[in-house]
Amino acid sequence: MIIRDALPADAAAIAEIYRPIVERTTISFELDAPDAAEIRSRIRRVTRIYPWLVAADSGAVIGYAYATQHRERAAYASSLDVSVYVDGAVRGRGVGSSLYATLFRLLEQAGTFHRAFAGIALPNDASVALHTKHGFEPVGTYREVGRKFGRWIDVAWWQRELRNGGACGEARTSRMLRC
Ligand SMILES: CC(C)(COP(=O)(O)OP(=O)(O)OC[C@H]1O[C@@H](n2cnc3c(N)ncnc32)[C@H](O)[C@@H]1OP(=O)(O)O)[C@@H](O)C(=O)NCCC(=O)NCCS
Repeated sequence: MIIRDALPADAAAIAEIYRPIVERTTISFELDAPDAAEIRSRIRRVTRIYPWLVAADSGAVIGYAYATQHRERAAYASSLDVSVYVDGAVRGRGVGSSLYATLFRLLEQAGTFHRAFAGIALPNDASVALHTKHGFEPVGTYREVGRKFGRWIDVAWWQRELRNGGACGEARTSRMLRC
């Protein structure tokens, strides 16, 4: 298995990993699964600023992880949210953990990101275990903040420090990775 930057050409494989999460679970708060074109456009938009990684085994994409903006206001620019998804057939074999290890190494090398956040729709034991393993601590729980499949869903928020965060000073532009 290798971990590498996502390419627009990975969009179809990513869409297929994500589709059952959207259509069958409350893990994602999206109601309609994005198609490959939409994922391609998200990869292009996200990677202007943040890393988006894929795990590939014998050329096939089996998981992905990326960072995105935490909130829009300028003073939030040094904070980000992270997401990770692994193909249902290969969960529990270290793929998510390998993706996160590389993602956080890149985010820390960037020097401007200070805090990472993750929102976990409950229950999700695997995600809680993964985030705990990678240094996240619980912040608190938004109770009944989402509604999907006719039920209310709680989201637990987790946070972790990014070493070297702030080394490049205050993040004032969206081109933080070039600092
Ligand atoms: C959450 C997810 C990304 C974890 O990736 P993964 O490749 O299955 O996890 P890993 O094999 O790297 O395991 C990471 C840690 O979590 C633990 N873990 C994995 N699955 C678990 C489960 N079902 N229950 C409890 N712990 C679990 C592992 O034991 C490991 O900890 P350890 O190294 O201390 O033993 C994956 O299960 C997934 O894609 N789930 C659906 C999408 C999702 O929930 N994404 C996160 C949204 S917040």
